[in-house]
Amino acid sequence: MSHPSDGKRMTVLFSEERIRERVAELGRQIRADLGSDEEITLLCILKGSFIFAADLARAISGPVAVEFLGVQSYGDATQSSGHVQITHDLTNPIEGKHVLLVEDIIDTGLTIAYLVQSLLARSPASLRVCALFEKPTEEQKVRADYVGFQLGDEFVVGYGLDWAQRFRNLPYVAAIETD
Ligand code: IMP
Repeated sequence: MSHPSDGKRMTVLFSEERIRERVAELGRQIRADLGSDEEITLLCILKGSFIFAADLARAISGPVAVEFLGVQSYGDATQSSGHVQITHDLTNPIEGKHVLLVEDIIDTGLTIAYLVQSLLARSPASLRVCALFEKPTEEQKVRADYVGFQLGDEFVVGYGLDWAQRFRNLPYVAAIETD
């Protein structure tokens, strides 16, 4: 399906249903890996993973706690700046917790590398990374333990992901022409 939106050409890549099925699979796999009784601290990286994290939280059975960490790495551009700014810090310690970092998309990996390094310094019992999307590039320093879907080099929006703060509310994920 292809349709114009705000003058931008978009092509739907992942439908609501496809995302729902994959998120359910991820939830089952994560719970199976951590064991049925273990509390999982789901760390939602704002803003891009707010919808994914909300759905993933409901796809993981058993004890789940939720924390939020706000970061900004792109500004309004479509290229990673390499500078990660914390805009909202955790409100509870993660020391001794089994943390699952929930990220929308790993592109260059700069954001996730910075976050993993700074979160490990807070001594969690374990730290795993779950990304809805991964764009495989050679530079990537950190690979996610769980990946929803592999992408090519397209810029995608919807299901929490934005282009200049827009399109986060689309229920599906679409590639958008950014030039
Ligand atoms: P990285 O530091 O290059 O890995 O960039 C990761 C962050 O850039 C993600 O958390 C997103 O916020 C943003 N990003 C990267 N690619 C896209 C995209 O295709 N659409 C929307 N945001 C993206």
